[in-house]
Amino acid sequence: MKNNHETILKCASMVEKAESVAVLSGAGVSTSSGIPDFRGPNGIYRRKYDVDPEMIFDIDFFSRDPSFFYKFHREFLEALEEVSPSYTHKFLAALEREGRLKGIVTQNIDALHHKAGSQKVLEIHGGVWKSTCLSCGKSYDYETSRRKTMDEDIPRCEICGGVIKPDIVFFGENVKHLEASRSIISQADLLFVLGSSLTVVPAALLPSCCTGRIVVVNKGEVSGAYLPPDRIDLRVEGDLDEFFRGLNEKLNLTIQ
Ligand code: OAD
Ligand code: ZN
Repeated sequence: MKNNHETILKCASMVEKAESVAVLSGAGVSTSSGIPDFRGPNGIYRRKYDVDPEMIFDIDFFSRDPSFFYKFHREFLEALEEVSPSYTHKFLAALEREGRLKGIVTQNIDALHHKAGSQKVLEIHGGVWKSTCLSCGKSYDYETSRRKTMDEDIPRCEICGGVIKPDIVFFGENVKHLEASRSIISQADLLFVLGSSLTVVPAALLPSCCTGRIVVVNKGEVSGAYLPPDRIDLRVEGDLDEFFRGLNEKLNLTIQ
């Protein structure tokens, strides 16, 4: 369905009737903030590197050659300092303030939901705010690991010389907060799936825990492998910020 007036009215009525809204967000919610997604037309996995870009977040590849990840990560940390939340991030924070949104499960590591003012955010793929030495387990705060990332080709532990890795969940590692994510989504009477191709499990399996209504807003293909199309009550094929701007003309939430 296109992002038209009728779609907006339908969605506004779903939100107004809902008592417990949950969100599963992906990289598409942050592209308008300036952070590229993975599989969209300008996505990170479409770039040409010497190595397959899907290896950036592969734990076995990282163990063999951490420098490939760190080249990418240096750029990411620099970009992170510059970016601010999108309209979509701000709309979701407003929906939480109003008491309807019970939680956001995000696959993103950019902390933009927090920056927008959302309080109940589960970062299932972790984040960059803490790093850990893979050899001795020493924990590093954001400032220290950021400085080391900028200064050293491969950041190493001050105690044992082991390689330090940010607490981002790589392929081959367990996601975080899985039970809590299932709980929020299974209790929701309305779930928004936003800006995700739904190709990475277990995140892509989470919408199937929802017994309520499901709205998917995404520009581009969303895999039906884990969320069958007939489970989707409203599919909006369009830009997220445009959609939520239109929706808020009906809902009139105070966007900060
Ligand atoms: P993807 O890049 O797979 O999907 C993002 C989707 O958002 C694509 O379908 C885009 O077309 C769409 N999109 C981009 N900008 C949009 C906009 N302004 N409005 C509407 N839609 C838009 O990202 P994820 O599904 O989040 O994992 O990827 C899942 C995981 O794959 C990531 O968390 C990451 C990656 O490997 C790890 O790093 C562990
Ligand atoms: Zn160490």
